[in-house]
Amino acid sequence: MIKVAEHAGFCFGVKEALRKTEETIEKYRGQDVEIYTCGPLIHNRIVTGELKEKGVFEIQSPDEAVSGSIVIIRSHGEPEEFYREAEKLGLQIVDATCPYVSKIHRLVKDASAEGRNILVVGDAGHPEVLGTVGWAGSRCQVIDSLDMARKVDFDHITMVAQTTITEELWRSVADYFQSCKEDFTAIHTICSATTERQKSCEKLAGESDLMVVIGDRKSANSTKLFEIASKNCEKTYFVENPTDLPLKEIIKCDRIGVAAGASTPERIIKEVIATMSEVLTENKEMMSQDAAVNTAVEEDEDEEMNMMNDFLEQIDKSLRLPNRGEIVEGEIVQVTSREIVVNLGCKKDGVIPKDELVLEGEQDLNVLYKEGDVIQAKVIKTDDGDGNILLSRKKLEVIEHWDEINDALDNKLVVNAKVVKEVKGGVIAMYKEVSGFIPMSQLSDKFVEKADEFIGKTLPVKVSRVDQKRNKAVFSHKAYLAEEKQKKVQEVWDALHVGDVVEGVVMRFTDYGAFVDIGGIDGLLHISEISWGKLKHPQEALEIGQKVQVKILSMNSEKGKISLGLKQNQPEPWMIIDEKYQVGQVIEGKVVQIKEYGAFVELEPGLDGLVHISEIAHKRVTNIADELTVGQEVSAKILEIDKERRRISLSIKETIEPSLMEEAAEAVSEAIEKGKEMIAEVAEDVAEKVADVVEDIKEKIED
Ligand code: F3S
Repeated sequence: MIKVAEHAGFCFGVKEALRKTEETIEKYRGQDVEIYTCGPLIHNRIVTGELKEKGVFEIQSPDEAVSGSIVIIRSHGEPEEFYREAEKLGLQIVDATCPYVSKIHRLVKDASAEGRNILVVGDAGHPEVLGTVGWAGSRCQVIDSLDMARKVDFDHITMVAQTTITEELWRSVADYFQSCKEDFTAIHTICSATTERQKSCEKLAGESDLMVVIGDRKSANSTKLFEIASKNCEKTYFVENPTDLPLKEIIKCDRIGVAAGASTPERIIKEVIATMSEVLTENKEMMSQDAAVNTAVEEDEDEEMNMMNDFLEQIDKSLRLPNRGEIVEGEIVQVTSREIVVNLGCKKDGVIPKDELVLEGEQDLNVLYKEGDVIQAKVIKTDDGDGNILLSRKKLEVIEHWDEINDALDNKLVVNAKVVKEVKGGVIAMYKEVSGFIPMSQLSDKFVEKADEFIGKTLPVKVSRVDQKRNKAVFSHKAYLAEEKQKKVQEVWDALHVGDVVEGVVMRFTDYGAFVDIGGIDGLLHISEISWGKLKHPQEALEIGQKVQVKILSMNSEKGKISLGLKQNQPEPWMIIDEKYQVGQVIEGKVVQIKEYGAFVELEPGLDGLVHISEIAHKRVTNIADELTVGQEVSAKILEIDKERRRISLSIKETIEPSLMEEAAEAVSEAIEKGKEMIAEVAEDVAEKVADVVEDIKEKIED
C-alpha cells in the first residue's frame, strides 16, 4: 500500500511565484525583453529547466542583466539593497517574494528601526536568510543551533525564524533566550505549510516500512523532510524522479510512505507513485505464478532467486521512463489526423501532436507517416495528462535549425525567414523553428515607417547575432540587400572598360557636374565633360532622369570612382570647322560674353567668335553694353578663321546697311577726330616755338 503524506508538493508561495513567472512570460512573449531570475526560481531542476526553455534565464546578480530587462524576485525574497541596485541599473522588477517572507522583512526592518538587535534562526547561507538579513540593519546575527544561541551576549533581542526550520530547533533556542534574557521577543515565523508538511511526514514515516521523499537535492525543505523521515523510518530514500526509485527494496515492502518538498511539482509525485504501483502489481502477479510453479516442482531456491533478478531487470528496463529533454526513438503504432502514437519500448507510449510536427501548410499526417515507421523525437513532458509521454519533432529539429543559424552566422550565409508578427522596435521572423528579431532599421535599405507591411513576407536575411542559450537571434534584411548591391556593383564594374560608351541615367547634380547611374554604379560626369561649350551649371544641358550615352573616361578601382564624358560623343567643333564655316559666311549666334574691346558670339557650343568694338555698328561705339546684351541672338559675318590660334573674327556691322544719319554721324565724328588731331599738331608747334624764344631770352640775359 502506498500512502502519500497529507501535505506534499508545492506550497502557496512557490505556486504564486510560478504563476507570476508564467504571467510575465505570456506578457512579454515575442518581445525583445530578457527575463531573468536571480538564482533558481525554485529548487527543482526539472521546473527551472522548463522555464529556461521558455526564455527565463538565471543570473547571480542584477548587474548581469541587460538594462530594460525583467528580473523576477523568487519566493525566497531579496535584500533591500537589491531593489535599489535594480532600479539604478534600469531593470524592471516582478516581485514574487512569498508574502510570508515579505512579512518577516517588514518585522526585522521595524525592529531594527527601534534600535533592537535582530536574531534570525536559520541557515546563514540560505537565500531566504540572506534576504532577511538584508532588511535587518547592521545589528543582526544568524544562529543555527542552541550552541550558537548560548554565545549571544547582547540583550534587547527580536528573534525571527527562517520559514523552513524545524519547530524543534525554534523551540529550543526560544526557550533558552526566554530563560536568560530580559528584553527578548520571539516572533514565530516558521511557515505553517512547512510545519504541517514536516509533521505529516514524521507521522507517515513512523507508520511505513519504506519512505520515499521526493524533491530536488538542493532544496532545503526537501532535505529537511528526508532528515525527519530518516529518523522515523529506517528505509528512507530520497528521489528526484521515478528512475531514482529503489525498486528491489520497494517490492519487499507492504507499507510505503511518500512525502514531497515544497518545490516538487505534482506531476513528478504522480509519476513516482504510478511507477511504484505498477511494480508492486506486477510483482504480486509474478509471486502468485511462482507459488503455483513451486507446488508442482521441487523448490529450488537459487533458481527462484535468479528468476527474481531477471524479473526485476525486465521491470527496470520497461519502467525506465525517458527523461524530459531526452531524444528517443520508437516505432509508429498509430497515425490519426491529430497525432502520431509511438511505441518507445517502455510502459508508456509517446504521442506527437500535430502541432509538434514540422509540416508545410496543411499536410496530411496519414500521407507523411505510416504505422511501422521508426521516428525520433524529443521528450517534452514525461506525462501529457493522459498517461502518455509528450514528444516533439519540432523541438528535435529546432536543434538542427539552430546549427544552421550558427553556421549562417559563422560563414556569413543568407537564410530565408518569414515575418510572423510585429513587435516593439521591429518584427519577429521565423527561420524554420528558430525565431529571430529584425530591428526596424534592418528591415530595408530605405526608411521603414510601418513594419506591418512585412508581415507574411519571406525575406532573405543575414544572421547578425545569435544567443542560443537565450533562444535569441537577430537577423538583418538590410545587410542582405547591401551585400546584393555590392555584388551587382562588382559585376557591373568588371564588365566596364575605359572607352566604352554606355547608357546612363542622370541621378543628381552638383556645382561641378552630374552623377550618372550606369547599371548600379554612379559615375561622375564633370561639368567640363558635358559640352564642348562652356556651362555654368550642369542643369543648363541636362535634366534629372534623362537618359544619356556616356563614354567611360577613367576608372579607379581602388577608390571606386568612374569618370564619364558626354561631349566626347560629338566631334570637336574646331576639327570640322572647314566643313561648316567659311570667311564671308553670315552666321546666327548668341552673345556669350562682353569685354571692353568687343563681344564674343557663340556659333555653336565650343566655337566662339570675337566681334571687335569697331565691328559692332556703323556708328562709333564707346560702350558695348549700350548695343548688345549677353544672351542676345545676333547675325554676324565671318571676317577671318585662324585655325592655328583658334580664333574667329566676326562683324555685326557688315550684316547691316548703314542709315544716312549714321553715315552723317560717322562723317562728322571722323571730321571731329581729324580737327582734334590738327589742333593738337598746331599746339605742339606753338609750344616748341615759345620754348625756343624763352631759351634765346635766357642766353641774352646771361651775356
Ligand atoms: Fe512561503 Fe511557506 Fe512556501 S513561506 S514559499 S508558503 S514554505
